[in-house]
Amino acid sequence: MSYSAFLEETPLIPGMMRLLDHAELCKPARLAAWIQKRLDEGLNTFDHADIYGDGECERIFGETLMASPELRQKVQVISKAGIVPAHRDPSLWTTKHYRAEADYFSGAIDKSLSRLRVEQIHTFLIHRPDPLLDAESLATALERAVTAGKIRHIGVSNFLPEQWRWFQQNTRLPLVCNQSQLSLSHSAALLDGTYEAHLNDGLRWLAWSPLAGGTLTRCVPEGLLQAAKEETSLDETGLAIAWLRQIPGTPIPVVGSMRERRIQEALKGARTTLPRSLWFALLEAVRQTEVP
Ligand SMILES: NC(=O)c1ccc[n+]([C@@H]2O[C@H](COP(=O)([O-])OP(=O)(O)OC[C@H]3O[C@@H](n4cnc5c(N)ncnc54)[C@H](OP(=O)(O)O)[C@@H]3O)[C@@H](O)[C@H]2O)c1
Repeated sequence: MSYSAFLEETPLIPGMMRLLDHAELCKPARLAAWIQKRLDEGLNTFDHADIYGDGECERIFGETLMASPELRQKVQVISKAGIVPAHRDPSLWTTKHYRAEADYFSGAIDKSLSRLRVEQIHTFLIHRPDPLLDAESLATALERAVTAGKIRHIGVSNFLPEQWRWFQQNTRLPLVCNQSQLSLSHSAALLDGTYEAHLNDGLRWLAWSPLAGGTLTRCVPEGLLQAAKEETSLDETGLAIAWLRQIPGTPIPVVGSMRERRIQEALKGARTTLPRSLWFALLEAVRQTEVP
């Protein structure tokens, strides 16, 4: 098997995009306890981006690590850059846009390091494919950051195969992952060859919105969901994660819920194999059509 070994031991990655929705967790002592619980569960990789909370999610996480240096040695972080939301555009045009210039990315890496208070970011991702991307100069900037020890690995996010292949041609560094949407509700890539392109090129799929934002209870008919729960002893969270982890190459779910109950259920799902027919029954129910 030539599947990517990147983050092989990680059943899931807690995503930090919704941190500000949880006022109680924004206090360093509470967040430190929450992080410690994840470490106890074997989860040591946390997903960030410069735009989450306009940098506040990284800042609060970093403040927590500073206040609890024992955690700092144990956690590793993923971060990303390249999206400028409209409200952060200082120009006359106030337009959401992408930035992938070399100096912009070098600055973004430094700013993430300083907000997160870590010496190295485990994996840094280009958040979105940018039609104005100068692949050669961005690759050089990322290589410099790796040589300087600021980041360990590079990856992409929301890229299609030809987009990452174009970028990969410009650098000797291996792209280790593509963080893209994948779930029972967002499964087209499993049927059109896009998923296999990841396996062929050795990019681990980090699946964002793996719980489909909690919409599965609406997408799967109640009778099927109930029967699936009884058969597997999982709830809808566990079923969504088990379904993803069963795919060859085991995509890593980047889970957005920060609630203990859902994370524990997600972990239970990551350790469960669904009967093959149930895997397809869930897919069929959400797609509202049989596989061809
Ligand atoms: N690279 C990218 O472009 C990109 C884009 C988006 C996200 N991400 C990353 O992926 C992570 C996950 O994204 P996500 O938050 O959209 O994923 P998600 O895990 O699919 O959704 C989490 C949301 O769904 C709710 N939810 C889950 N199960 C539910 C249920 N059974 N009933 C009611 N609500 C339920 C959660 O509510 P509760 O909080 O109440 O549990 C939370 O609001 C983010 O934190 C971020 O790190 C990356």
